[in-house]
Amino acid sequence: MKAVRTIEELRSGIRALQINLGPEATVGLVPTMGYLHEGHASLIRRARKDNGIVVVSIFVNPIQFGPGEDYETYPRDEARDLALAEAEGADLVFLPSVETMYPQPTKTKIMVSDITTRLCGASRPGHFDGVTTVVSKLFNIVQPDKGYFGMKDVQQVAVLQQMVQDLNMNVEIVPCPIVREEDGLALSSRNVYLSEEERRQALVLSRSLREAAAAVSEGTAVTAGDIRNLLKRVISQSPLADIEYAEVVSFPGLQPYPDDEEISRKDEAVLMALAVRFGRTRLIDNRLFNPKEAN
Ligand code: PAF
Repeated sequence: MKAVRTIEELRSGIRALQINLGPEATVGLVPTMGYLHEGHASLIRRARKDNGIVVVSIFVNPIQFGPGEDYETYPRDEARDLALAEAEGADLVFLPSVETMYPQPTKTKIMVSDITTRLCGASRPGHFDGVTTVVSKLFNIVQPDKGYFGMKDVQQVAVLQQMVQDLNMNVEIVPCPIVREEDGLALSSRNVYLSEEERRQALVLSRSLREAAAAVSEGTAVTAGDIRNLLKRVISQSPLADIEYAEVVSFPGLQPYPDDEEISRKDEAVLMALAVRFGRTRLIDNRLFNPKEAN
């Protein structure tokens, strides 16, 4: 495995592998912000299985953080990240500096409208513009056949799918399953911010999603309103939880269902999505399901 910091080194590294492996070797890109955990490891493993060449990028992207968010304090551990990427079989790790990615004040932005204004987009204005801009740049730099993204950031997946479709980008977005701790907490680099008590109480996220899905299949939650109420009721049992949203929306359109809409007999993908603060830590989690199949 080779770690590179410049675009030139990365492109020549990919070219060298392509010459070695032949034109059939596809390129899989796993974009990350580092502080890698088992969720990232699962993306790298999937990319390794699917492609001849695997590139992992590690870049804490300043333009997707809003004022007062955790850009400065976002956890970083380059040595550990490189060891994990190597152990999972990455060929190249791209670690650009901010100056490499944004050499002059950038005047071009990629913006997906509509679906970026809901859920996380409502409280993090501009966040998804930062994500789509940096991911477009990474796609242009690496020219991958496939890009791998975790479903914990389900809105990010929907937004990127929309972007590649609208801009005819020749990249397949590969959504990968959420990886959880044994007790149900979805893995996130930000989990390290949680105190012991906050971490214990944060289990209400996965529990509320589980209970809501069970209530839909048992017929005790029928409408979107029933599901929202149940999610909020379960989460509120944790005194430290401060709910930002507990939503029921379509996927990938992310349209909120009206409170009286019957969800339990729908034969389509329904997304329950949560953002909840525990102290200074904002956690997200979600569950995508087909109510008809769950019944
Ligand atoms: O999901 C993330 O870690 C980031 O949003 C991404 C896709 C690497 C873009 O900075």
